[in-house]
Amino acid sequence: MTDPVIAQKAPFGVDVEEGKSYWWCSCGLSAEQPFCDGSHKGTGLEPMKYSAENSATIYFCGCKNTKGSPLCDGTHSKL
Ligand code: FES
Ligand code: FES
Repeated sequence: MTDPVIAQKAPFGVDVEEGKSYWWCSCGLSAEQPFCDGSHKGTGLEPMKYSAENSATIYFCGCKNTKGSPLCDGTHSKL
């Protein structure tokens, strides 16, 4: 298991659509942040599914150190 890489020390705000599913990148290696592009292969890390219950702006963690995956919990400000 590899530690995640910090993609950015700030969340990514994304307008999600009700009823759609999204795969958050937990490893930090994806070029399609904040979502998985398959680059986690070999790291032992896996993407996390987020199912949008409403259409809204969601702040996905970019630092990959959140305790509230896949959402930003403010941890990035202490890195
Ligand atoms: Fe990071 Fe898939 S690319 S979890
Ligand atoms: Fe990771 Fe805020 S961006 S906790």
